[in-house]
Amino acid sequence: MTESNQEGLSNLLHEERRFPPPEALAAQANYTADAYAEADKDRLAFWEKQARRLDWDTEWSEVLDWTNAPFAKWFVGGRLNASVNCVDRHVSAGRGEKVAIHFEGEPGDTRTVTYADLAKLVAQAANALTDLGVGQGDRVAVYLPMSVEAVVSMLACARLGAIHSVIFGGFSAQAIYDRVLDADAKLIITADGGYRRGKVFPLKPIVDEALAKGSTNVARVIVVKRGENEVDWDASRDLWWDDIVGRQPDTHEAQAFDAENPLFILYTSGTTGKPKGILHTTGGYLTQVAYTHHAAFDLKADTDVFWCTADIGWVTGHSYIVYGPLANGATQVIYEGTPDTPHRGRFWEIAQKYGVTLLYTAPTTIRTFMKWGDDIPAQFDLSALRVLGSVGEPINPEAWMWYRRVIGGDRCPIVDTWWQTETGAMMISPLPGVTATKPGSAMKGLPGVSVDVVDDTGTPVPNGGGGLLVLTEPWPSMLRGIWGDDERFRETYWSRFADEGYYFAGDGAKKDADGDLWLLGRVDDVMNVSGHRISTTEVESALVSHPSVAEAAVVGATDPTTGQGIVAFVILRGDAADGGEAMVSELRNHVAKEIGAIAKPRQIMVVPELPKTRSGKIMRRLLRDVAENRSIGDVTTLADSTVMDLISSGLSTAPPED
Ligand code: WTA
Repeated sequence: MTESNQEGLSNLLHEERRFPPPEALAAQANYTADAYAEADKDRLAFWEKQARRLDWDTEWSEVLDWTNAPFAKWFVGGRLNASVNCVDRHVSAGRGEKVAIHFEGEPGDTRTVTYADLAKLVAQAANALTDLGVGQGDRVAVYLPMSVEAVVSMLACARLGAIHSVIFGGFSAQAIYDRVLDADAKLIITADGGYRRGKVFPLKPIVDEALAKGSTNVARVIVVKRGENEVDWDASRDLWWDDIVGRQPDTHEAQAFDAENPLFILYTSGTTGKPKGILHTTGGYLTQVAYTHHAAFDLKADTDVFWCTADIGWVTGHSYIVYGPLANGATQVIYEGTPDTPHRGRFWEIAQKYGVTLLYTAPTTIRTFMKWGDDIPAQFDLSALRVLGSVGEPINPEAWMWYRRVIGGDRCPIVDTWWQTETGAMMISPLPGVTATKPGSAMKGLPGVSVDVVDDTGTPVPNGGGGLLVLTEPWPSMLRGIWGDDERFRETYWSRFADEGYYFAGDGAKKDADGDLWLLGRVDDVMNVSGHRISTTEVESALVSHPSVAEAAVVGATDPTTGQGIVAFVILRGDAADGGEAMVSELRNHVAKEIGAIAKPRQIMVVPELPKTRSGKIMRRLLRDVAENRSIGDVTTLADSTVMDLISSGLSTAPPED
């Protein structure tokens, strides 16, 4: 954790403010304080009860099989279909006319999809995929803008027992190629383009570029028409969605799959350059996303309008746009574009228009709105809001208070929810009808979740102490592995506290005097930029793949809006060092090309040397000091102690141009 986090901490832990739940909400809350006691008494019985909120074709014979730890099996022998649970069962229950999705396109076009409509769309897509030879266990890559078709594609895969691998629309051709190859996908669903900041951004052309990089087993590419941009066409491979899906019958008989049938792979950054394909399965995952969505938001499916502003390309979109809300039969809003298009009040205009009652967004977005000023949200009627959620990074108390006061009108509880791609669903969060919250604290594990903060030896720290966040018991939506790499799975998450059998999350945390939890950010080389996980090694690899770069070191520097910003230090080869700003901007674009625009360094500093220990390890701590404009810390372990002077005197920086 960074020094600035440490400094902030002493303030955090003196937090005296408490925000008890509103009485009216508490009186009708889905979960009361009893849920903690109930789960503590018999954790597995508690999870079994949550699993019963779903429709199963065959009941399980055992709740958890942990004999082959860390490879878990939940709801052993149980059989269900995730897509039926998210769609058909609501129609069968007479709720077909209820709106599932209010889609709002960035240009202002809208589409209302009821559960009955969704059932038809998913059936058609499942029939189309079947026609194209997709079946149980096949991998399908999805590279789509925020759209109804993205939801439908995922549910159609789930319906067939096929495994979707959604790739965020901001990723580059190289990133797509790597992921398609690793998962060995046989089909890709994409769109011509989507709308962002008033412009069409191309998607199919990037898929074409990805597939031209080498041979893959992708036989078909289905293309949704959205951007109306010109696209090249390979008639032997490409199919328009409307042609192949549109003409299918709108019913589809679904079969039930084993609770442990893989549901999806989602790639996320780790500490090495190669992204990890996080694998999730069906029964446990669906149980926990549905439960947490119901509990943390106090969802009343008949009256609430939920809006999660994340992209479907990230786990938050998987769990709290697709599977959680739909399994619960909720009505939700999906918005295609950016918060400031065409004006900075767009989010609040949407919230007002659809009467959003539950909002789930990221601290970076909240801080951006704070910067834009209170008068913008003040122009809209946000009185329908009931519960506000935060996810993706630590939320600072100022942003928390602003969210509560300006967006929540001082009446909505805030649920700061900690979880990860790997955990699949929320793990630490207040319960809005129970918890007296503290600004900036995620408080404690949800009922059923066992979490602790331990020191290096795996011993729990006392209240007031800090250390590493661990999960001490398995949970239903836990990752079942890293696709194709069991060893990396054990090594990354289970080796650090192997004796204790704890899952190591990679986050630092503190317990305050009451034992409530304060998340402090990553303790490894993973950066968190606007809630997006990016590894320093990944960006370093991208930089050194440029012919002019001899060496590169990347750090995440504290940033007031994005949480962290990417700062790169590069040693250039020979003449390239004379390239000045043009060179720096070329390197930034190179990173965007290799990974995606989200990984573009905020700043690139051209330096003559990098600070290394005698064993050759780069001392990122010192580089962070430079990047955060602090005086340089202890340099005694440096192989060459003059290096930092050299760096400080020879800095050449360029401000970002976008
Ligand atoms: C961070 C996103 C503090 C954390 C759901 C974690 C948080 C990483 C919070 C996972 C929070 C997420 N408070 N930190 N409420 N939520 N994080 O996989 O560092 O994209 O390890 O999942 O985000 O990021 P991921």
